[in-house]
Amino acid sequence: MNQVRIGIIGAGRISHVMSAAHAQVPESKLQGVFDVARGASERLADKFGIPLIFESYEEMLASDEIDAVLVCTPTFLHEQIVIDAANAGKHVFCQKPMALTVEQCERMNDAARRNGVILQVGFMIRFTPPFVEVKERLDSGEIGDIIAIRSAVFGWEPTGDWFYDPNRGGGLLIDTIIHTFDLFRWYAGDAATVYADGGAYVFEGARRHGTPDNIMCALKFKNGAMGSIYGSWSSGYGDKTLEIYGTKGSFFIDLMEAQGGRAFIKKSADGSAGGGGAEGWSNLGVLWKFGYQQEARQFTYSILGKTEPSATGTDAVAAQKLAMAADASIRSSRIVEL
Ligand SMILES: NC(=O)c1ccc[n+]([C@@H]2O[C@H](COP(=O)([O-])OP(=O)(O)OC[C@H]3O[C@@H](n4cnc5c(N)ncnc54)[C@H](O)[C@@H]3O)[C@@H](O)[C@H]2O)c1
Repeated sequence: MNQVRIGIIGAGRISHVMSAAHAQVPESKLQGVFDVARGASERLADKFGIPLIFESYEEMLASDEIDAVLVCTPTFLHEQIVIDAANAGKHVFCQKPMALTVEQCERMNDAARRNGVILQVGFMIRFTPPFVEVKERLDSGEIGDIIAIRSAVFGWEPTGDWFYDPNRGGGLLIDTIIHTFDLFRWYAGDAATVYADGGAYVFEGARRHGTPDNIMCALKFKNGAMGSIYGSWSSGYGDKTLEIYGTKGSFFIDLMEAQGGRAFIKKSADGSAGGGGAEGWSNLGVLWKFGYQQEARQFTYSILGKTEPSATGTDAVAAQKLAMAADASIRSSRIVEL
């Protein structure tokens, strides 16, 4: 196989972003689409020249013209579709959050492993330029050991009521902050404890479903690093900031204003290299599209055996555990150990 034939299940908002990303990857071919709303399938097919419109996802999974599927349905529908796809021998890209509980995520991950198919989850921040470079620089020891990592994450007002519902979308914590739980794990490893608080400050949907629209979360990692996340669906402003403070310097990523990142490296203690200051790296002009495109390339290349899988089902299980611990903390007002 030198090209992966992709079927898209769920042709809403994110499917257009995913399709645009895959259209940039020559080894990926957008081959089929299924949405319960026929019009949504047709819009996506017309826009991206997708040749096959299926009448059900089961029909898509039975087709030998499809090698892999992108699961882009509302979250509460992910589990069954992913398990069915894995059982049909299709490689699976599942949008985040993988599901709504740890048990569901584990069942999905098990199905992928049992069937020997790739399962990648939509943690696209892992593939977005300044975050990737920060990872490389962290791993090379450039800022020493992480002392503290913090992020402010600003989403958007949900487009559907299901996003607020703990049984359908999971609310701000599971739907949106899950990205940051995965990112923090990627940078700082597993967490030991989490304490979170939040409330439905603005949106009626959040109030009705009893899920917060603003959350503050404090973490302690197993390696001793401290973490903090503020997440909001109501800030009226998109994107995020990330700060990582290490024993030898720090990184600052600003996707709010600058769309870029900077490194501040502490110079040697003997004074030979002078003090402080921004050093060496300033990365501006980040494009979100590039992250989704790299994510699409990663999925395609994993299937073709050209790269190791990343943002796997196993990563998503771990991120979900962290999210559910934070959820338990909000509900109990207690620090939760992982
Ligand atoms: N990674 C990201 O940046 C990102 C961004 C937005 C959404 N998402 C995730 O993507 C998923 C979808 O979100 P969205 O914003 O595109 O939602 P959406 O409501 O815009 O689209 C969902 C689509 O799924 C279709 N659908 C519903 N039931 C279906 C079924 N049984 N079979 C097939 N299709 C069905 C709907 O008709 C709709 O077209 C969610 O899990 C969400 O959390 C990820």
